[in-house]
Amino acid sequence: MKTHPDLLVLGAEQIVTCAPPGDLDRPLAGKAQGDAGVIERAAVAVADGLILAVGPADEVMRDYPPLEGHTRVIHADGRIVVPGFVDAHTHLVYAGSRHREHAMRLAGAKYLDILAAGGGILSTVRATRAASLEELTEIARRRLDLMLLHGTTAAEAKSGYGLDIDTELRQIQAAFNASSASPVQVVSTFMGAHAVPPEFRAEGAEAYIDYVCEEVLPHIAAQGIARFCDVFCEKGVFTVDQSRQVLLAGRRRGLIPKVHADELAPSGGAELAAEVEAISAEHLAAASPEGIDAMARAGVIAVLLPATMFTLMSDAYADARAMIAGGVPVALATDFNPGTSPTLSMPFVITLACLQMKMTPAEAIVAATRNAACAIGLGSTAGVLAPGRPATFAVLDVEHVDALPFYVGMNPVKQVVVRGELVVDAGALVRRM
Ligand code: NIG
Ligand code: FE
Repeated sequence: MKTHPDLLVLGAEQIVTCAPPGDLDRPLAGKAQGDAGVIERAAVAVADGLILAVGPADEVMRDYPPLEGHTRVIHADGRIVVPGFVDAHTHLVYAGSRHREHAMRLAGAKYLDILAAGGGILSTVRATRAASLEELTEIARRRLDLMLLHGTTAAEAKSGYGLDIDTELRQIQAAFNASSASPVQVVSTFMGAHAVPPEFRAEGAEAYIDYVCEEVLPHIAAQGIARFCDVFCEKGVFTVDQSRQVLLAGRRRGLIPKVHADELAPSGGAELAAEVEAISAEHLAAASPEGIDAMARAGVIAVLLPATMFTLMSDAYADARAMIAGGVPVALATDFNPGTSPTLSMPFVITLACLQMKMTPAEAIVAATRNAACAIGLGSTAGVLAPGRPATFAVLDVEHVDALPFYVGMNPVKQVVVRGELVVDAGALVRRM
């Protein structure tokens, strides 16, 4: 007896499975990252939220024919299908706007100078401290809708605009609540070490780091709603020693280390990520060759954030080619935040990855799906299209994988399916869960 699917996607010019033969739970690195597992003129059959088959259309139709009145058919009409994008680095939950600082930067002000003068991250801290849980949840929920419209179906969310126990917790709770009401799966990262808050200005960074490790972190870890711990390891923010202290304290409490490493200057962040066996090091625009080697040896995933360099009007993009040549698995993310990257668009990030960092379209798609999923601990459920995996994918209005980066600033997303449910159709939200 044949199994009839609940859902069939037919007529796709290409399906990008990100699942070439091999262990699907692991990131792709080196040359292997260039094979996105593309199937030409393909189809997907889905039942009970899982993929039954993905392959050449004639084979899928033969084994899983549609049943009248039962099977919903999506006609991909010559477009491409990709796994739902995974945005592996966002500062999802914050209140307020920093448009004045964007104007100041247009007039020549520098990002870290604005922070040192009490603006930047600290201005978002003021606005976020003043916002209620309900307000933050609603803000996050609207952002998750925007993510879905751009094909993102899983994301990481960092705290770090509270810098005190109550507000850090409120940010993480807001991410949790918003995700519970959305098809987008969110995993949380505690990032109390994002900046030194004004009440610690006199005592300094050391005293604040002690407070984070001894008071904030234990409280957050005890709630069980954060999976990772991150720190802004950067000249002028937190030193390597301070960052190590936070990451080890997090690890003792069960939080897996991540590092904001070498964003603006070589700061030893990539080396630190390797030393503490972080799951990922992020930014890396100024990472040293030694740091990249150390990451490759330790199996640390590089999460690259080209939209940040774009917004900072810098041409110092991370050296993705050196990382891929060195065997470091490369992932991509938006770094969505109010200061350095106010975009939720993974297609735009893919454009920048190709045009500015010289990644191939296949490498960039793998980076934005499978490798990103691995960077946030979702490697066994998200980021690939294969039988038995959740049926979570996007239909893009693009004729070929190689064309995706060239629709600059356009949103190519036509349909999004999450665990077998159509949640975006004709580029619009179908319903809210
Ligand atoms: O990843 N670098 C630190 N954090 C963010 C920026 C946060 C902000 O400016 O509000 C980043 O770029
Ligand atoms: Fe960031």
